[in-house]
Amino acid sequence: MDSFLISYAICVVSLLTIRISAKEFNVLSYGASGNGITDDSSAFMKAWKDTCSEAASSATLVIPKGKQFLVHPLIFTGPCKSGTINVMLSGTILAPNGPDQWNASDLSTWLAFEGVTGLSISGFGTIDGRGKGWWDRSCRYHPGQGCFTQAPTALRFQNCNNLKMLNTNFHNSPQTHVLLLGCQNVELGFLNIQSPGTSPNTDGIHIQFGRNVSIHNSQIADGDDCISIGDKTYDIKINDIKCGPGHGVSIGSLGRDGEAVQVNNIKVKRTGRGLVQNVTFTNINFTAVENPIIIDQYYCDKPNSCKPTDTGVHINDVRYSKLIGTSQTEVAINLNCSNNVPCTGIALDNVRLELIFTVFVTISYVLTPGASGATSLFNVVDYGAVGDGKTDDSAAFSKAWKATCNAPSRNPILIIPATKIFLMKPVTFSGPCKSTSIHVLMSGNIVAPNSKMAWKGFHINRWLAFTHVNGLTIIGSGTINGRGAAWWSQPCLHKVPKGVTCKGPTALTFYRCNGLVLKGIRHINSQRNHITISNCKDVTFSNLHISAPKTSPNTDGIDISGSSNVQIRNSFIGTGDDCIAISSGSSHINITGIACGPGHGISIGALGAHEEDTVEEVHVRNCTLKGTMTGVRVKTWQGGVGNARRISFEKIRFIRADSPIIIDQYYCPSRVNCKNETSGIRISDVSYRSIIGTSTTDKVINLSCDQNVGCTNIQFNYVYITSTVPGKKAYAFSFNAHGNYAHTRPVVKGLQA
Ligand SMILES: *[C@@H]1O[C@H](CO)[C@@H](O)[C@H](O)[C@H]1NC(C)=O
Ligand SMILES: *[C@@H]1O[C@H](CO)[C@@H](O)[C@H](O)[C@H]1NC(C)=O
Ligand SMILES: *[C@@H]1O[C@H](CO)[C@@H](O)[C@H](O)[C@H]1NC(C)=O
Ligand SMILES: *[C@@H]1O[C@H](CO)[C@@H](O)[C@H](O)[C@H]1NC(C)=O
Ligand SMILES: *[C@@H]1O[C@H](CO)[C@@H](O)[C@H](O)[C@H]1NC(C)=O
Ligand SMILES: *[C@@H]1O[C@H](CO)[C@@H](O)[C@H](O)[C@H]1NC(C)=O
Ligand SMILES: *[C@@H]1O[C@H](CO)[C@@H](O)[C@H](O)[C@H]1NC(C)=O
Ligand SMILES: *[C@@H]1O[C@H](CO)[C@@H](O)[C@H](O)[C@H]1NC(C)=O
Ligand SMILES: *[C@@H]1O[C@H](CO)[C@@H](O)[C@H](O)[C@H]1NC(C)=O
Repeated sequence: MDSFLISYAICVVSLLTIRISAKEFNVLSYGASGNGITDDSSAFMKAWKDTCSEAASSATLVIPKGKQFLVHPLIFTGPCKSGTINVMLSGTILAPNGPDQWNASDLSTWLAFEGVTGLSISGFGTIDGRGKGWWDRSCRYHPGQGCFTQAPTALRFQNCNNLKMLNTNFHNSPQTHVLLLGCQNVELGFLNIQSPGTSPNTDGIHIQFGRNVSIHNSQIADGDDCISIGDKTYDIKINDIKCGPGHGVSIGSLGRDGEAVQVNNIKVKRTGRGLVQNVTFTNINFTAVENPIIIDQYYCDKPNSCKPTDTGVHINDVRYSKLIGTSQTEVAINLNCSNNVPCTGIALDNVRLELIFTVFVTISYVLTPGASGATSLFNVVDYGAVGDGKTDDSAAFSKAWKATCNAPSRNPILIIPATKIFLMKPVTFSGPCKSTSIHVLMSGNIVAPNSKMAWKGFHINRWLAFTHVNGLTIIGSGTINGRGAAWWSQPCLHKVPKGVTCKGPTALTFYRCNGLVLKGIRHINSQRNHITISNCKDVTFSNLHISAPKTSPNTDGIDISGSSNVQIRNSFIGTGDDCIAISSGSSHINITGIACGPGHGISIGALGAHEEDTVEEVHVRNCTLKGTMTGVRVKTWQGGVGNARRISFEKIRFIRADSPIIIDQYYCPSRVNCKNETSGIRISDVSYRSIIGTSTTDKVINLSCDQNVGCTNIQFNYVYITSTVPGKKAYAFSFNAHGNYAHTRPVVKGLQA
């Protein structure tokens, strides 16, 4: 007895006890062979007809396990008699193998369900579109005669309400894997959709004219969008999707009247009207995705043909929550909303995206301030900032900062939007703030006043300062320009009275900011030093680009004092003074991956000017110093008490540095009143290891230790520095320094004395 009869018998039995409740129709009973070669289409059609006309409260079409069914294009049409139609798909359904086996003139669809209500598909089976033959002849990759601009969608559901498809595998669709057209109340879950990343237009799931669609717990890897959502589609929930390779989850391109083009994320054409509303992206784990989050209201598929217009599709109420992972591109979050129809109600909650190297976040235009959700966004433009490079935007920034700092939400973000230039007079952004985490997205640019006269009435010690702000993260690709030239030639606000020294402001000061992160910004032409980190703990700076002319005075890159646990990584610093200077009260400072030069190199000190000065645990590794006046220096004044200890310089390369390695305990730049004192800072446990390079002088190592205190445990290992002076042999000078050297040229003879 075959299974049809068994189930029939069971049904008859159940009919006797209760009323008929379920019936099964197995394709094998209708003559399907399941050998993967014989055409099983008509068996499928017959089995479907019976399933669909069955009046029981549920009817099941069975496609059994362990078999492969070759099926030509078929449309399973409803409405069906039963309110619940199951398809128990446990075997594999194979498409005709490429265009040569395709027998229908319609190339749009392989399998379709039309007008079937209450359809439920499950059973761990596979729908294999055998797309390779189509991809090989796709006009996109292989243009020429006989190429195909279109290939079939593997499975289309049209006007199927109350649809559920669970635990189903899709392989290698010729084009889109699953197409939902005009279906309401849909649940797609535990799907596994796989086709190669190079297969053309193989979207995972495309939804159009849909409502109330939930897609969850699925893996989608394909050559196009994992999920794309077209026009007139409402209430879509997408949860726990593993997407990639592919183009991500996208909504668009709207505004083109119904025609959908596959694009990333939310893209709307700049013409048209309409609304994208109530969209939630949640629980997404991005792995090395290009452009993880995009809203682009300027989408234009044919550059130069899209003109600016006053209309636009309004994007409202889009939530991104629990999104984590890595981005392959610098712009991890790009919310490019239009000026005329700005996006509203955009909420980011628990979004943590790391670029493989860094995160740059670009936010181009206006989101509503304090948008709903756990994250509040505060755009300086909404607080009156103009960003034309001429209007003084300081007051607007202060207001936006106050709102950000007082925001009770977990993760407020101050937005400095891209492509604008904000003119700022001296401003202090002070804390403490309500939230333990404050972000500043610096996509736009900040400039100082062009003339020193604008500084009248301000303290000129600092330009921009953050004080007492904990958990501050500043990221972005914007530029801070101190326009320092006016200060370099004359570092006082007015004419310098005789004997008076005065200095220009520090461009960016962080004072008592614990848990500070600064990433990605460019910082140029500071008036005096570019950045001061003072009395901060747990600081990470990375991917900074700091530059000022070689001749600009006192334009240190980063000065660190009284701070601990500071990481400075992967940055370029080229200025007129120290690239990085570490002074009194600092400890646990790691500096790695810095390209330094021009400038005065990386220095510790000068210590000894205060009552007690100590710097310890400084580790400088993997840095290149190119064309610097000095290389790595430890400098102390005569006198003072304290220590400079546990300092290491490792994997350093010098390229034409003037004086590569220096310990100078007689620091006295003014050269007046340079007395020798009896006390001195103790320098100990300093190691130089794996250092190579060239010097423009022949004095490549100078260890001038204090005459009374001396330096102890100075170690040289694998240090090779040569002179670029023709015919000159490099030499090392050492006074009262104690320690050892091995594998080092020039030899540091005095060390062991
Ligand atoms: C394709 O094959 C199926 C099954 O053999 C058949 O029912 C259908 O008529 C064929 N279509 C064309 C256009 O030949
Ligand atoms: C949305 O669809 C689901 C089934 O996927 C259903 O349970 C739910 O009631 C629907 N919601 C609405 C508001 O229709
Ligand atoms: C947005 O969608 C959610 C979940 O589908 C629903 O509960 C809520 O009512 C919708 N909000 C609006 C304004 O449509
Ligand atoms: C995100 O995905 C990556 C790579 O697949 C994985 O290593 C990581 O554990 C995932 N994170 C979470 C929270 O699932
Ligand atoms: C935003 O869209 C405008 C208009 O197309 C474009 O010029 C600009 O580059 C976009 N910004 C980003 C960051 O993509
Ligand atoms: C700083 O460098 C030291 C010495 O190389 C190392 O032991 C320590 O782990 C580093 N700290 C961090 C946070 O990288
Ligand atoms: C060394 O620094 C360079 C940048 O100067 C960086 O690209 C590289 O990854 C670093 N290497 C290590 C091992 O940190
Ligand atoms: C200070 O001491 C050093 C080392 O003994 C010596 O070379 C130098 O001349 C002294 N300077 C003065 C001003 O006494
Ligand atoms: C070494 O440095 C000391 C202190 O700056 C300086 O006086 C001396 O001339 C230098 N020696 C050499 C050989 O450069």
